[in-house]
Order: sequence, then C-alpha cells, then structure tokens
Amino acid sequence: MDGNGRWAKSRGLPRTEGHRAGEDALFDVLEGALDIGLKWMSVYAFSTENWRRPGDEVRFLIGFNEDILLRRRDELHERDVRIRFVGRRDRRVPKRLIKNMDDAIELTKNNKAMTLTVAFNYGGRSEIVDAVRTLVADKVPAERISARSIASRLYDPQMPDPDLMIRTSGESRTSNFLLWQLAYSELYFTDVAWPDFRREHLYQAIAAYQERERRFGGVGE
Ligand code: FPP
Repeated sequence: MDGNGRWAKSRGLPRTEGHRAGEDALFDVLEGALDIGLKWMSVYAFSTENWRRPGDEVRFLIGFNEDILLRRRDELHERDVRIRFVGRRDRRVPKRLIKNMDDAIELTKNNKAMTLTVAFNYGGRSEIVDAVRTLVADKVPAERISARSIASRLYDPQMPDPDLMIRTSGESRTSNFLLWQLAYSELYFTDVAWPDFRREHLYQAIAAYQERERRFGGVGE
C-alpha cells in the first residue's frame, strides 16, 4: 500500500493523512475483491524496516493499525472475511496490539468468503530466518531440509503463493514483501498512489494478469 506519504505531501498535508486516506482505498479494494470472489488478499501494513521512520510516524502507524482493527473488525466479520497476520511478534510490537490481533483472528477464524492477511512488522528475509531457526530447533537433519520443509515453517503455511503482486505509487521493487512466496508470482506495477487506488485499479491489474502466460520455469502450452 505504497505512496501514502507522497500523496499527502503533494497535497500539502502531513504524511499521516496519506495513511488515513489509505484506509478508504483498502476497504474499497476489499469490497471489490469480495464482489469478484477473490479468496485471498494480503496487504503490507508495516514492515520490519518501517521502525526506521520518525518516532511520530511509527507511533501513528501502530496506533492506526490498531484503530482500524478495532473499528472495522466487526464489519469484516459480517462480510465473512477471515483475518490473519504475518510478521514478527517481537518486543517492539505493543502487547495490546497483539491482543487485538489475536481477538480479530479468533473472531473471524471460521469465515469463508476471503482471507485477509495483514503483514505487520513483516519482512520477507526475517520470515525465512525465522523458518530456518524453527528447522534448527526442530532438529531437522540437513538432508531433510527442502523447499517444502521451509515453506511449512513460514508465518502462515496455509497461505497459497500469491498469483499476483500489485505495487502502487511507481516503485518497481518488491521491498522484502513475501520474498519466498513471490518466487513465481506475476508482478504488476502502477503509478497510482495507494490512497487513490480503487477496485477499478484492482480489476485493471487482474485483467493484465490474465494476459500473462505463466510457465513456472516450464515451456508453456
Ligand atoms: C506505505 O506508504 C504505507 C504504509 C507504511 C502503511 C499503510 C497502512 C495502512 C493503510 C493501514 C492498514 C491497516 C490495516 C489494519 C490493514 P509510504 O508511507 O511508504 O508512502 P511513501 O512511499 O509515499 O512515503
């Protein structure tokens, strides 16, 4: 959900207003995704690198994520959305936020329309590091280490690899998002800043995806 800060700056607003505007974008895209029967959607809400931002913005982002969770979890529950989180639950993440995450997970755990995965304090490299640490803790012998044994120790092993990754606001990189899972995903880059992104943009991205030929390293049909 990139471009919030620049969107705000270009309007003479504080960066935090860009994040606020990003909430409308998120829920419009979510509704649009539900309308077309998309089963899995994942959003990058806070990265392991975002701690480097000024203290005020970090505090805002943590509070804002919690605020959205509390204000909108019932609505998500009514829309039959299952909420999950990926990311490190280290000491920097306030205990109360973790409790609210767990409550949202519990409340929505049996929902079927869609799984919304929120990447919070998430980094793709950290995820792989944590998976390897688990392998070692599980005393898995070297010859048993495989793509499958690593994948089964990622933060949410049930999450399928994404078909499509959308990056907004004109940047053309993955920035440590779902590093392992994106190996064969189709990447879509758009200049639209996240606060301006709406379901129509999602549909444009999906239409572009439908034109792609996915070969997964093979030769295709
Ligand atoms: C990136 O824009 C955006 C973020 C770091 C935060 C986005 C978070 C939300 C919209 C809240 C989502 C909350 C839930 C619970 C799903 P940026 O600040 O990097 O923009 P810039 O590149 O223009 O500086």
